Amino acid sequence: MSHGPDTERDVIADLDFHVEAGVDLCLDERPHDRFSEADEPPAWRPAPARRAMPAQDASPADPGPFRRELPPRGPAPAAPPARTYGQSAAAKPGEAAGDARARARDVTSLEELEQLLAGFDGCPLKFTAKNLVFADGNPASKLMFIGEAPGADEDRVGKPFMGRSGQLLDRMMAAIGLDRTKAYVTNIVPWRPPGNRNPTPQEVSICKPFIERQIELADPDIIVCLGSPATQAITGTKDGILKARGRFYPYRVGDREVRALATLHPAYLLRQPLQKRLAWRDFRLLRATLDGTA
Ligand code: URA
Repeated sequence: MSHGPDTERDVIADLDFHVEAGVDLCLDERPHDRFSEADEPPAWRPAPARRAMPAQDASPADPGPFRRELPPRGPAPAAPPARTYGQSAAAKPGEAAGDARARARDVTSLEELEQLLAGFDGCPLKFTAKNLVFADGNPASKLMFIGEAPGADEDRVGKPFMGRSGQLLDRMMAAIGLDRTKAYVTNIVPWRPPGNRNPTPQEVSICKPFIERQIELADPDIIVCLGSPATQAITGTKDGILKARGRFYPYRVGDREVRALATLHPAYLLRQPLQKRLAWRDFRLLRATLDGTA
């Protein structure tokens, strides 16, 4: 196979591949392993002076997996603007989560919580998202659906579950006589992760005090966790969703214990339509529970 210089077509095919894989936003010149940087300050803090690549990286004898020859770079672009975690300038995700918890405690209504989130700078996702995606549906309902994080459609509209998985969620709800006037709908993370990637554990932990407060203020009797990240964040289980689904878990709201049902995420069902039979079981259990016949 020839590895000649990239043609325009190669470059376009490469970009198309990335967009299809969900990598549709350019944040930095080099990839970062967000999972290993729990204790590091965020990448957009003033960048240290660029370091030379380590010798073994540059060695032609060891090009490393997938490495391609790149043309020499032009002058380095300016460092991204300096930003800090949190209005309190908390420097680390742990501090941002503590800051979020302190702020969330002070709000006394869902409207105030939404305003608080709109002004909260502690989660890096805010800076790549177009909109805050707070909630949809009926906040007075005793039933609350919680998904993972907004996607591109939700980010554009500013409401959860607006795209294809939202349409499927609406159909699943309709199948048991529900719609958004009868349920409150939100996500554990209210900003879209770039490229629709999963939120990192750090991002979830920063946002968790907000969703916990949102649950307290909405005060549901039944929570439905859609997919693994929501199930793990709300119930604390470490089980994968195929093991965790179909069961109610206790969840404490103030001095009340309510129940959280784990089920499959509609986006997963769009990819694995055969699994809809499992979700249908869960939704029938939900219906029977709402009817008091489970
Ligand atoms: N997936 C989610 O988890 N939430 C949304 O709002 C949309 C898609």
